Amino acid sequence: MEVIEILREASNRIYENVKDLAGTEHAAGDFGRGAGGDISRNIDIVAEKTVLDYLKEINFECVVLGEECGRVELSNNPKGYIIMDAIDGSANAVRGVPFFCSSLAFATENKLSSITDSVITDLSNGEMYWASKNKGSFFNEEPIKVHSSDPIYKIVGINISGATADLIKRLQPIFENHNHTRHFGANALEMALFARGLMDIFIDLRDKIRIQDIAAGYLIVKEAGGLLLDADLNPLDADLSYDTRISFIAATNQKILDEIMSQIK
Ligand code: IPD
Ligand code: CA
Repeated sequence: MEVIEILREASNRIYENVKDLAGTEHAAGDFGRGAGGDISRNIDIVAEKTVLDYLKEINFECVVLGEECGRVELSNNPKGYIIMDAIDGSANAVRGVPFFCSSLAFATENKLSSITDSVITDLSNGEMYWASKNKGSFFNEEPIKVHSSDPIYKIVGINISGATADLIKRLQPIFENHNHTRHFGANALEMALFARGLMDIFIDLRDKIRIQDIAAGYLIVKEAGGLLLDADLNPLDADLSYDTRISFIAATNQKILDEIMSQIK
């Protein structure tokens, strides 16, 4: 079974197991702090267990790097890493805001740039974004590309949750300069919307994103033709470490990147 098919099946199983849980009191159950540093909610635990059970069921030889469960070695002879944010957008999921997803990626080495396969599933409806290296990105069964023409409305995704006063001050011109700014609360799904051409740039300069939040989106954005850069505007890469915190910008092309960056220098 191809790795992408394994990720897709795991993701489908998450959807089946959590679709009636989101927004219920049961979703919120507190399981203490997970490996990523946030409180693990029952819905996070149910979703992660779904993936771990499935990988064990099919004897997939890998190391899992889960946001809640931490590093789980499923083999002494692993083929690579499964980077798992079983629920991205947990606050939305717990409250019942229909914008949260699962994010699963497979990497052969200890680097984002070694990711070969990714799946992001919109858990409000089961729709799936996926990519394999050098094979393109897909939304369900349709190939997707980042937006290519000049947009009628320029949509600027910008994550400001928990941003410092200094960062808000730096970003302020973006809000003022007639951009249509958006922030939905599930980083991976926002990257998927960007890859599908529904946003023109997505900016997260908070130095807060964990590898689990970005791993699947990393490949889906790149395979859809997007630029993916770090805060210094170099190509994004990072170690798959629990200590890693990332800032990044995803842009459809150099023109919009230059236009937006010139506003916040
Ligand atoms: C969070 C979401 C959110 C971002 C946070 C992440 P989680 O992931 O991606 O959009 O602002 O920084 O922690 O905790 O719901 O998996
Ligand atoms: Ca999560």
